[in-house]
Amino acid sequence: MAQTPFHLGWFVMKGYGPKGWRSQWGGPNLHSWVKPDNLVHLARELERAAFDYVMIEDSNNVPYTYKNSHETYLRLGLDSPKLDPSVVAPIMLRETKQIGVITTLSTTEYNPFLLARLTNALDHISDGRAGWNLVTGSNDGGAQNFGYDKQFPHDERYEMADEFVEVVQKLWDSWEADAMVIDPERGMFADPEKVRPVFHEGKYFRSRGPLSAPRSPQGHPVICQAGGSPRGRTFAARWAETIIASASSVGQMKEFRDDIRRQAAGFGRNPDHLKLMFLIAPIIAETMEAARAREQARLAEAEENIEFYLANMSRVTGIDFSQFPLDEKLPELTSNGHQSSAKGFSGRTPRDIVMQGRALRDADLVGTPDYVAAQMAEVMDAVGGDGFLIMDPDHTRRYITEIADGLTPALQRLGVVRKKYEFTMLRDNLLAF
Ligand SMILES: Cc1cc2nc3c(=O)[nH]c(=O)nc-3n(C[C@H](O)[C@H](O)[C@H](O)COP(=O)(O)O)c2cc1C
Repeated sequence: MAQTPFHLGWFVMKGYGPKGWRSQWGGPNLHSWVKPDNLVHLARELERAAFDYVMIEDSNNVPYTYKNSHETYLRLGLDSPKLDPSVVAPIMLRETKQIGVITTLSTTEYNPFLLARLTNALDHISDGRAGWNLVTGSNDGGAQNFGYDKQFPHDERYEMADEFVEVVQKLWDSWEADAMVIDPERGMFADPEKVRPVFHEGKYFRSRGPLSAPRSPQGHPVICQAGGSPRGRTFAARWAETIIASASSVGQMKEFRDDIRRQAAGFGRNPDHLKLMFLIAPIIAETMEAARAREQARLAEAEENIEFYLANMSRVTGIDFSQFPLDEKLPELTSNGHQSSAKGFSGRTPRDIVMQGRALRDADLVGTPDYVAAQMAEVMDAVGGDGFLIMDPDHTRRYITEIADGLTPALQRLGVVRKKYEFTMLRDNLLAF
């Protein structure tokens, strides 16, 4: 009998961008992706299933790495266009009551004061359900939109991000929790004794503060991070509360989690306060046969649209994969972008990488709800926690329903995921188990 209780999150791939426009289940009005409705629908459905959070991916450029051209990315609606996630996140938070919404914001694109203010506001309007997916940027094209010739060196981006988080946390803490008294009789709105400048003078950033807004319900919105490289792991272990990761085997999941927890203890943190969430894209259907058939359809789609995936690999690594023959093993790759991805691609053929996708090699997440639920529970027992981040390349309403009304109830019957929220704030629900 599975023992380990775990958390569920959803990864909104391709951010606030077009979803399912080539899918049979893409819906009646493909142009409606610019409206918040799809993502509001997603947040509401996952709240019904008592998910911890929805994480909205983001990147800030029309890529041109693949074949040194925008062509493939625009023709296929790949990794662009994307509207600003910080515009849809408040609407999703407004239309829900308990689920957390984590917005991606980059430390090489935002200024610490602006980011502290934005995340503070999201936390206020949601009574403590806001999170920040901290990214340091990866593609040179993104950096070129912000006045730089190219991205800062990989590890230096994490150095900068260390100081960035220090400033942001100081600003979040610049108002004491009871500073805002609002006492008309005393004629006092806020107690000046309880609001302090931060006078931050650092290697990369300067900010006087205080924040121009009172302390938010969580005080610190939840920090989410996805560092896979050695430097990225250390960064995540120092600052992140939920760490999202892509692993290709149960063994890799366990090694990653144990390493992060060990490093977190080294920073004096309680390892149980870090929730590792692993990416999966389960295929759910009424029968095992139907699910297998959909798996075959997904593989055929990948084979047919291999360019789509090669262009995506090119964007995240900054390496143009159109130069490599599909069935020849890749050389040892280095990247100033997603270092762990480049390392994971090295020595494999581009076709194998595309066809394997993000599926776990040694766990079978294709089948009926009960079958897949049992597999997921077994994986969590083997890894020790802390949860899964569900993703759907097509993000169709059909898939959302299969997960919310099919898979999740099966997991609830096994007693490994919550049936209802324990608390109202995101951090408290993450720390509930
Ligand atoms: C599940 C997941 C979600 C991610 N979301 C984003 C994102 O929204 N925007 C972004 O720029 N990078 C995103 N990344 C990339 C990470 O922030 C990071 O750059 C990447 O994992 C490589 O880290 P590394 O260079 O330390 O190996 C994501 C990575 C993963 C695994």
